Amino acid sequence: MKLQGSTALVTGVGAGNLGQYFAQQLIARGAAKVYATARRPGLINVPGVEVLHLDLTNDATIEKAARLAADTDLLVNNASMFEAGDNFLHGDLEVMQRAFDTNVFGTLRVVRAFAPVLARADGGGAILNVLSAMAWSNFQGLNVYGASKAAAWSMTNALREELAGQGTQVTGLVFGMAGTRSMRDFADSIAGRGALDAVITAPEEIVDMALDGVEAGSPEVLGDQLAIEAKAALSDGPRSVYAEWAAKLLQP
Ligand SMILES: NC(=O)c1ccc[n+]([C@@H]2O[C@H](COP(=O)([O-])OP(=O)(O)OC[C@H]3O[C@@H](n4cnc5c(N)ncnc54)[C@H](OP(=O)(O)O)[C@@H]3O)[C@@H](O)[C@H]2O)c1
Repeated sequence: MKLQGSTALVTGVGAGNLGQYFAQQLIARGAAKVYATARRPGLINVPGVEVLHLDLTNDATIEKAARLAADTDLLVNNASMFEAGDNFLHGDLEVMQRAFDTNVFGTLRVVRAFAPVLARADGGGAILNVLSAMAWSNFQGLNVYGASKAAAWSMTNALREELAGQGTQVTGLVFGMAGTRSMRDFADSIAGRGALDAVITAPEEIVDMALDGVEAGSPEVLGDQLAIEAKAALSDGPRSVYAEWAAKLLQP
């Protein structure tokens, strides 16, 4: 899909997060219009975008956005939640349900609302789903988030088939660590300030690869080394790439 002249909608745009980088780069690549959406639209500060309210857990905001942004031909499903400290055995079930309701069903609500919009776009338009290498690994404190991303990965692959009939291309973006504000705070909290800088990829780089993937019609983009290793490790049987990697990095 050609980005020059396209109309894109990005979910989860906020200060210093990946959504902001997506909105900025889409404008830089010549998108004719970019809808930057958030559940807290007041936090959006990207020159040149049209701001819309869109909460993944609120059908009314999604339907309204689909009406207002009826010219969208690229949907970037970037919004997602994670609460550090989650795990299956002792974690709060309500937090787990919220993670799945946002990261899986919330993304699905947006896809369902925008599928007819994309069907009207030239060539069927495109969807980019932002996933995570945690879909293929596990890490204490991120286990429920990882499971929600595994479900979102599976759903992404299924939607690619389900939307093929209307020509809508579906790309999944998988990566381990991008230096967004929230990831830097999380990395500093587990490893100490700046300790993981060498393995955190610049958000601009990951967004660039993702948009190249959309332009090339790629079904999946692996955005960093961690994603490449996590995917390769799947054929070795279950093990935690993150845990091995963290053990290497976090040892004194
Ligand atoms: N950064 C990384 O290293 C990394 C690694 C792998 C995958 N990812 C994925 O990349 C994407 C962006 O990551 P990020 O680091 O930019 O995360 P982030 O800083 O947490 O930003 C996530 C955005 O999603 C929004 N959001 C959460 N719940 C929402 C809802 N119900 N409706 C609408 N928006 C909602 C948040 O809004 P609020 O500010 O209102 O909460 C925020 O704007 C996510 O899909 C994440 O899972 C990131």
